[in-house]
Amino acid sequence: MRVEFSGRDLISMRELSRQEIEHILNAAERTEFSGDMLKGRLMSTLFFEPSTRTRLSFETAMKRLGGEVVGFSKPGAASLSKGENLTDTIKTVSCYSDVIVLRHPREGAARLAAEVSDVPVINAGDGSNQHPTQALTDLYTIRREHGRLNVSVAMVGDLKYARTVRSLGHGLAKFGARLLLTSPPGLEMSEELCAELEGMGAKVEVCSSIEEAVENADVLYVTRIQKERFPDPEEYRKVQGAYRITPELLEIAKPGMVVLHPLPRVDEISPEVDHTERARYFHQVRNSIPIRMAVLTLLLGVV
Ligand code: CP
Repeated sequence: MRVEFSGRDLISMRELSRQEIEHILNAAERTEFSGDMLKGRLMSTLFFEPSTRTRLSFETAMKRLGGEVVGFSKPGAASLSKGENLTDTIKTVSCYSDVIVLRHPREGAARLAAEVSDVPVINAGDGSNQHPTQALTDLYTIRREHGRLNVSVAMVGDLKYARTVRSLGHGLAKFGARLLLTSPPGLEMSEELCAELEGMGAKVEVCSSIEEAVENADVLYVTRIQKERFPDPEEYRKVQGAYRITPELLEIAKPGMVVLHPLPRVDEISPEVDHTERARYFHQVRNSIPIRMAVLTLLLGVV
C-alpha cells in the first residue's frame, strides 16, 4: 500500500500506522537530502513553552534543506499578549508559511491548530499529551541500536506527565514491544493508557523496583520529572530526586542495553553515565536532524 504524507499534519503517534512509521524511519536512514530540496519554502516555529532541542533541530533541518524559518520562542512578544487567540494566530501564520511547528502547554492545542490551518501543522509538544517527532527520533535510535523495535524498553521516571513517554509508548506498541514501567509513587502511567497500549499490541509490565526494570531491558528510557506540570509544588518536592541512574546501577544490565533520555535532564542520570558505553542520549539529539528532515520533506511533498 502506498504511503502518502504530502499536506498532512503530524499531531499524534496514535494516528501513524506501523507502515507509516517505518516509511519515515527509512526516509531518515537514506539521508538522501540535498541542500535545495526545500528552497523557497518557509517554516514557522511557534513555541509557547521553552525548548532547546526541538526548536533548534527543526530550524537546523529546514535550513540544511535550503528553506527559511520565521517564528517566536517568547510568546509574550506576539500579539497573543494583546489578547489574540490561538485560532487567529494560526490562521494568520498559515497565510505566511508552508508548514507550522507548534509547541504549546495545552493538550489538544496542536489538534486545534491543524483544524484551522491551511498548511501542515507539526506538534512539537502539547502539554503532557504528545511529542511525535521526539518519538520518531527515539524509535530511529532504538532501531539503529538493535535493528528492530519489538524490544524490551524500561520506562523510568515520570510516566504521568511526560509526553515523550506517551508518544513513544504509542509508537512501540505498534511493533509489539514489551514495556517495563517503574516510577515514583504518584507518577505511574494511568491504567487507561496502559490498557490502550496493550490494545495496540504492547506487553505492559509494572516492575517492583528500578533494578528489575534495568536487568530485563534492552533499552532504558529515562525521563525528567516534569516539574512544570505539577498543580502543587509541594507534590513535586515529594518526588524530586526519587531516582538516579548511575554506572553502578547499570552493572546489572544486559550486554547491549542502552540508555536513552529525550533531554533535558536534571539529576536523573549521573554525568558519569555519559562516559559509559551505555549512553545514547546525545545520539538521540543527533538523530533528530535526519528525522525532522524526513518529516519536513514528506509533509511538504518533495519526496
Ligand atoms: N526533547 C525535547 O523536547 O527537548 P526540548 O524541550 O529542549 O525541545
